[in-house]
Amino acid sequence: MKTILITGGAGFIGSHVVRQFVKNYPNYKIINLDALTYAGNLENLKDIENEPNYVFIKADITDEERMDEIFQEYQPDGVIHLAAESHVDRSISSPLEFVKTNVLGTVNLLNAAKKLWNGNWEGKRFHHVSTDEVYGALGDTGFFTEETSYDPHSPYSASKASSDHFVRAYSDTYGMPIVVTNCSNNYGPNHFPEKLIPLCIHNILNNKPLPIYGDGKYTRDWLYVIDHAIAIDLVFHQAENGETYNIGGFNEWQNIDLVKELCRQMDEKLGREKGESEKLITFVKDRPGHDLRYAIDATKINKELGWKPTVTFEEGLSLTIDWFLSNQEWLDHVTSGDYQKYYDKQYN
Ligand code: NAD
Ligand code: TYD
Repeated sequence: MKTILITGGAGFIGSHVVRQFVKNYPNYKIINLDALTYAGNLENLKDIENEPNYVFIKADITDEERMDEIFQEYQPDGVIHLAAESHVDRSISSPLEFVKTNVLGTVNLLNAAKKLWNGNWEGKRFHHVSTDEVYGALGDTGFFTEETSYDPHSPYSASKASSDHFVRAYSDTYGMPIVVTNCSNNYGPNHFPEKLIPLCIHNILNNKPLPIYGDGKYTRDWLYVIDHAIAIDLVFHQAENGETYNIGGFNEWQNIDLVKELCRQMDEKLGREKGESEKLITFVKDRPGHDLRYAIDATKINKELGWKPTVTFEEGLSLTIDWFLSNQEWLDHVTSGDYQKYYDKQYN
């Protein structure tokens, strides 16, 4: 019996990782540690909350003592660390929150794991989940590989880059068995509607403007969240210690084209006239320090671990829209209260 501690499991990606591990590994005990910030939502895990191999703990990774207590009590063999502040726009207005959670929180977890494992590394693993944004921005050509130098531009990506460095430093200095994954933009069910795709789905449903930053020519490489969870499972179980894997969808879209595609599919599904939702597109002030283009070269994980995306973008987007259409209560819950205040401040 293995005990795996997953941090940030009530968030967007974390909830898919938790569900996958709880379902696929009935002989593991899965501990979901999450502070339930605005982005954490236990509704994301309603379907598995009563499984016998699942435990939820509400705790903040910035609390050093609490992390120590939890590690000593549950004695995890593995950690999959996803808890983070994850939104670039919020990092621009509150950078220190990102330093606290993403940097200090990660170091607290590394220290708690190091103390518990005490040099007995056999069968132990610390898997750090990171982003392609640590590599900075690409021009019109080229891809991020595992060898690309770090060049973060936003407070978010700078904090994630810092946490990646700490994780690798614990491997180099103390011999901790670590792996790092750097993934491109995810989309799918349970995506918090402050991010581009769910924000636009929500606004199309409510006939509200679709805010496109700058000229809309910024490019992202989109991956269906379940394919990210599958990749994490593979790397966690099969990678050699110390390895890094880039994960991406081979699926680049300029924001404006992506939003038009979303409008097209939504018009069809909502029985609206062709072109109706596109009229909601509104160009707004650009994000400061906006990275032009991200694109992942996922050759290494494909060749070494046999991973590739299981759904096309058209299928993934369709599944995502369908999920949001049949879970409007979820959307109403997360877009009430604090979300409204955030939205008014960000877009007015
Ligand atoms: P999210 O914002 O949806 O979820 C983050 C989760 O972490 C929430 O449940 C939140 O409650 C929890 N959390 C935040 N601060 C915490 C703290 N101090 N202590 C304990 N829990 C805390 O984020 P996401 O989009 O699911 O991203 C998960 C991870 O994957 C992050 O590390 C992010 O950097 C990385 N990542 C995200 C993407 C993406 O496209 N969303 C792409 C690549 C990598
Ligand atoms: P986002 O979903 O915030 O992810 P990230 O910044 O981590 O890539 O943004 C995706 C792209 O969409 C990015 O280029 C910024 C842009 N964007 C908009 O044009 N309008 C918006 O309202 C948001 C939230 C993002």
